Amino acid sequence: MHAALRTPLLDRLGCRYPIMLAGMGGVARSRLAAAVANAGGFAVMGMVREPVALIEREVAALRAATRDDLHFAVNLIPASCEQSLLRAQVDACLRLRVPAMALFWEVDGDLVRHLKAEGVQVIHQVGSCRDAELALDAGCDVLIAQGVDAGGHVRGEVSTFALLPEIVALAGEVPVAASGAIASGAALVAALALGAQAVSLGSAFLATEESFAHPHHRQRLVAARAEDTVRTTVFARNWKIAAPVRVLPNAVTRGDYDGCSEAEKDQPIAWQDGGQPVYPFSTDSPAIDATGRIDDMAIYAGESVGQIHDIVHAGERVAQLVREAEATLARLRPAD
Ligand SMILES: Cc1cc2nc3c(=O)[nH]c(=O)nc-3n(C[C@H](O)[C@H](O)[C@H](O)COP(=O)(O)O)c2cc1C
Repeated sequence: MHAALRTPLLDRLGCRYPIMLAGMGGVARSRLAAAVANAGGFAVMGMVREPVALIEREVAALRAATRDDLHFAVNLIPASCEQSLLRAQVDACLRLRVPAMALFWEVDGDLVRHLKAEGVQVIHQVGSCRDAELALDAGCDVLIAQGVDAGGHVRGEVSTFALLPEIVALAGEVPVAASGAIASGAALVAALALGAQAVSLGSAFLATEESFAHPHHRQRLVAARAEDTVRTTVFARNWKIAAPVRVLPNAVTRGDYDGCSEAEKDQPIAWQDGGQPVYPFSTDSPAIDATGRIDDMAIYAGESVGQIHDIVHAGERVAQLVREAEATLARLRPAD
């Protein structure tokens, strides 16, 4: 492997390549996480608002499909979740000896300190210098700089490649990964050039055979260009606040549901996860078993979609990224 890809963060994450699976609620479960880990990337499972029983099942499944001592992270979003559920999720992760937690949105300093005291490595995704400072003050081990061009919930206002060097400068010795609009080996090299020690990819891994996203969601990503994505606050049901998300346009973003009465808003538009109802404006994206008006759910996508042309196995996605990164580095080599 090219020396430029061998960053110091790899030792801390216990993986071979500087490629992290982004924590994606409902999408990044054990099957995808195991495929990424087995291909040399870093596994993160998106468990936002999931019940403890599911976390237990998915952690066991990941270990069974990889190895018992795998270094991986569980992703939670404290601000999006009832405190009692959050406490139960954290307790479960500690009981299961989950080695790392990847947190997002507002920095919960007490939670970071609690996890650190329990010996857990804490990775925090941030969208601004202010949040980076709070995460560093709380003692986080790794930062992920998320640009406004990222898919799913977006915390900040600045694009990945503008934010990244500022966060790297602030972070000092603390390693930083880049997230948002990255789905190619060339973009990986660009992130490394700006000081990142890894990239954290959402959309690129959503569009794989092992993701838990509905095939319609994956196909829409493959068909889209970067300019197609929109940032909106309409998908706010389940969250305490109307937080911005980046999605592909659909009937909801076009306003077709705006005139709905309260009674209509309480009619499910789809069902998933073994028949659970999904209501209009929900933050849930379509899972693999979803039925109903699937395209009217949140079709999360980052501006990285323009770099995603096919649905492949996640291991092949990792290999593709490494091959492209090495080819890019070879092309950039200075003349003798
Ligand atoms: C379908 C989807 C779901 C996401 N869910 C979460 C989540 O639960 N927790 C989180 O920290 N980030 C979440 N994100 C944001 C990712 O962590 C990451 O910042 C983003 O995917 C990067 O942009 P990209 O999609 O262009 O790679 C989600 C992103 C997508 C696409």
